[in-house]
Amino acid sequence: MRSTPDFSSPLNQPLDPRPQVLGIGGSPRKKSNSTILLHRLLKGVEQAGLSSQALELRDCQFQGCIGCERCRKDRICTGLRDGMSLIYPDLIRSQGLVLVSPTHNYNITAWMKAFIDRLYCFYTFDQQCPRAWSSQLAGQGRKAVLGAVCEQENRDDMGFTLEAMRRPLEALGYEIVAELPIFRIFAGGKIAQQPQLLDQAQALGSRLAESLAP
Ligand SMILES: Cc1cc2nc3c(=O)[nH]c(=O)nc-3n(C[C@H](O)[C@H](O)[C@H](O)COP(=O)(O)O)c2cc1C
Repeated sequence: MRSTPDFSSPLNQPLDPRPQVLGIGGSPRKKSNSTILLHRLLKGVEQAGLSSQALELRDCQFQGCIGCERCRKDRICTGLRDGMSLIYPDLIRSQGLVLVSPTHNYNITAWMKAFIDRLYCFYTFDQQCPRAWSSQLAGQGRKAVLGAVCEQENRDDMGFTLEAMRRPLEALGYEIVAELPIFRIFAGGKIAQQPQLLDQAQALGSRLAESLAP
């Protein structure tokens, strides 16, 4: 007799992701520039024929990684049961990922940092320190587009915002298809007055979808 599969942990589901895109917004404010940018990126995804889903981290009740290391054994975060427990299945299932964060103090927001830290559970490590590592999400054709919005005028003012998303995603096994830095936007929603930038975002969303299409 075959045993019934246990789907109580997301990693008991097949890890093969589907060609669909999960979009994550990291701004704490409603009507944020990041939200507008995220939705235009996902519009491009849909235009190219893939489905997408948008999530705002400000609407999720979750906290940063507490370093309990329970995920070493369980292969998913079991030390905290919160809003991230609901996001993991969508992340695992989606081959494409879009992250958009405003610049806060030359970096991603605290919300985006907490989200990325909670992806630590996808690593597997050897025993000896410094431990060799690999990612459970690697080798599955996962791809991502990154967006960042800041008030000031150049890459220096934007600081580490894109790098702080790129490096962990690459380590997790995502190929970064494109990065979109947006400068000189301060007030909430102001980006809506920049149709060329939003058209560019939509085109990048389509490019991501086309790169995932079977
Ligand atoms: C706490 C905080 C820190 C910020 N730090 C920077 C910064 O280092 N560089 C910059 O160019 N803009 C900075 N800004 C401005 C925001 O990046 C800018 O207003 C952006 O449009 C906000 O995007 P949002 O509407 O998606 O939240 C900061 C804003 C806040 C609230």
